[in-house]
Amino acid sequence: MTPQRRILVTSALPYANGPIHIGHLVEYIQTDIWVRFQKMRGHECWYVCADDAHGTPIMLRAQQEGVTPEALIARVWEQHRADFAGFNIGFDNYHSTHSPENKAISALIYERLRDAGHTTVRTIRQAYDPVKEMFLPDRFIRGKCPRCATPDQYGDSCEHCGATYSPTDLIDAVSALSGVAPELRDSDHVFFQLGHFETVLRHWLAQNDLQPGVVNKLQEWFDAGLQDWDISRDAPYFGFEIPGHPGKYFYVWLDAPIGYLASFRNLCDRTGIDFELYTRPDSPAEMYHFIGKDITYFHTLFWPAMLHGANFRLPTNVFVHGFLTVDGQKMSKSRGTFITARTYLDHLNPECLRYYFAAKLGPAIDDIDLNLDDFQARVNSDLVGKVVNIGSRCAAFVTRDFDGHLSALDDDSSVLESIKAARDEIARSFEARDFARAMREVMLLADLVNQYIDRRKPWVLAKDPAAKAELAAVCGTGLRAFRLLMVYLKPVVPTLVDAAEQFLRCGPLNWASLDETFGDCTIGPFTPLMNRIEKTKLEAMVEASKQQETAVQAASAPTAAATAPAVENPTISIDEFAKVDLRIARVVEARPVEGADKLVQLLLDVGECGQRTVFAGIKAAYAPEALTGRLVVLVANLAPRKMRFGLSEGMVLAASGTDSGVFLLKADDGATPGMRVK
Ligand code: MSP
Ligand code: ZN
Repeated sequence: MTPQRRILVTSALPYANGPIHIGHLVEYIQTDIWVRFQKMRGHECWYVCADDAHGTPIMLRAQQEGVTPEALIARVWEQHRADFAGFNIGFDNYHSTHSPENKAISALIYERLRDAGHTTVRTIRQAYDPVKEMFLPDRFIRGKCPRCATPDQYGDSCEHCGATYSPTDLIDAVSALSGVAPELRDSDHVFFQLGHFETVLRHWLAQNDLQPGVVNKLQEWFDAGLQDWDISRDAPYFGFEIPGHPGKYFYVWLDAPIGYLASFRNLCDRTGIDFELYTRPDSPAEMYHFIGKDITYFHTLFWPAMLHGANFRLPTNVFVHGFLTVDGQKMSKSRGTFITARTYLDHLNPECLRYYFAAKLGPAIDDIDLNLDDFQARVNSDLVGKVVNIGSRCAAFVTRDFDGHLSALDDDSSVLESIKAARDEIARSFEARDFARAMREVMLLADLVNQYIDRRKPWVLAKDPAAKAELAAVCGTGLRAFRLLMVYLKPVVPTLVDAAEQFLRCGPLNWASLDETFGDCTIGPFTPLMNRIEKTKLEAMVEASKQQETAVQAASAPTAAATAPAVENPTISIDEFAKVDLRIARVVEARPVEGADKLVQLLLDVGECGQRTVFAGIKAAYAPEALTGRLVVLVANLAPRKMRFGLSEGMVLAASGTDSGVFLLKADDGATPGMRVK
């Protein structure tokens, strides 16, 4: 047994101005699996995160929506929390960088850096929007590329020719906010002197086991020379004012990583964990940051330097992952592959994505691809076909023939030994974030178990009264194997394993459960632990993501919408259509309604859905008495509507033109009440 470790883990803080999408989820799922593994091993492990709430884009977005930045970030915080909960991301704390803890620690770190002589103030000349009365970040300046003259390029780089430049080089530059030409104005800025820390950083690099890709990057950056970093922004800015510099604010990237510590501080204050023990320079604890490759510079240079300069411990490691592509390409709104966490959850089981990412994630910085066909095939064949299948194949007999009682072991239980023997190998893979390898190993073991079951054929034994004992032994062995596999899969698919624990009645599984004998006991009824992914669900998810794009465009671009031709018949997804519950119904009784000369009151027999009363505006075309016995089509799940004459519980479908009357739809002969119409 390894001694208990103390581990603090973070994922990057998502910006508080947009929804969580499946690209983000690569990181949160990766981190969550690793943390769950550490906790299962009995270590003290804390997983903290927060919304990254500051900066110009968030300030402007709030202005655009006519709300305060505080209101905007509060709303997004709720959404992020719900999205993460939906994917079972088990944060021990989810905070915000716009918090008192973060304000205090940011000020503390800054003051320590300043007092130790690691900051300096310099005047810089910058683009200023005289209409919006603010300095403009490079991204908010547009103009012609100084190299290739392509119009409407950003202030820092050209999307056409790839040139990078300073915004003052742009030709005919304008502010993206007001459209006027920016002026150049001087302003004092505070700089963090990163170069003071080159030796510290080189030492940190040498002492810790950073990924090879990260080491190479760092070498390049050292070779290029470490530049001073501008950590201040002028008002108006949504962030923390810098102590001693009224009207100047910390740049969002200064207080963002400090948000890790602030979230942890908040957790410590609430629960009594010792903050200093984890964060002081000689801390016996470990600290890991999981991040995407785009933010490596901030986490492997600025952040360790800031920590060291302010007398905090340095990260034990920074784990960098690659970017997600979908079907081999960048996520795209128009292709419907920019899939938000919410849209995914509306259609599919989160554990499928957790498993798929696990099956793809290795320890390197490579990008990973979500191929939708492969996703479906992999989940269906591995999780459902191999793993869950073991449970269902054995449990049925145990429940039916032995009242759920799990008895003696098979004389040939070598399969259980094989599964246990893989424990160190699998633990090493989890520890090294080689989840792909761990999952390959687990699936090979599941194959072994299925081969065992195929060999011993419980379905044949079940027919032979003389083979009762053997049947019990084979199924008992199968379910014990299943339980062991659940241990290995628990970090990846915790909800599935939770359901398995219920049915096995074995209590919460952890790594030590591998050593426990799972002896004479009684299992509960087997419930299907996971269903296959259906193609239609995947298609509906992609379709819904496309629709979202249209909805977003329409909502955010009112001027374009006003000039564009009106869309007469916007399409709906199959999923939206499937929400309408159409049923065949038979008219049991039809009568006129007193005081309403257009209405007929119908009593409908809807088969399994019972009887319904519906008021229909069809009297001009149909005499009530002629309707009795007729088949109609009913919208069965329309919210009931209270009318002056009573409650209308649905709607019958009829065709109608402007002046040409009303025509009830009816079904061909043979249809019966209650049938679904699709
Ligand atoms: N707010 C900063 C991080 C501050 S950490 C002190 C940020 N936010 S983000 O919302 O843009 O990204 C959050 C994390 O998700 C980052 O680690 C980023 O690399 C990761 N990803 C964002 N899009 C991604 C993919 N398409 N694929 C994989 N990871 C992605 O950066
Ligand atoms: Zn260009």
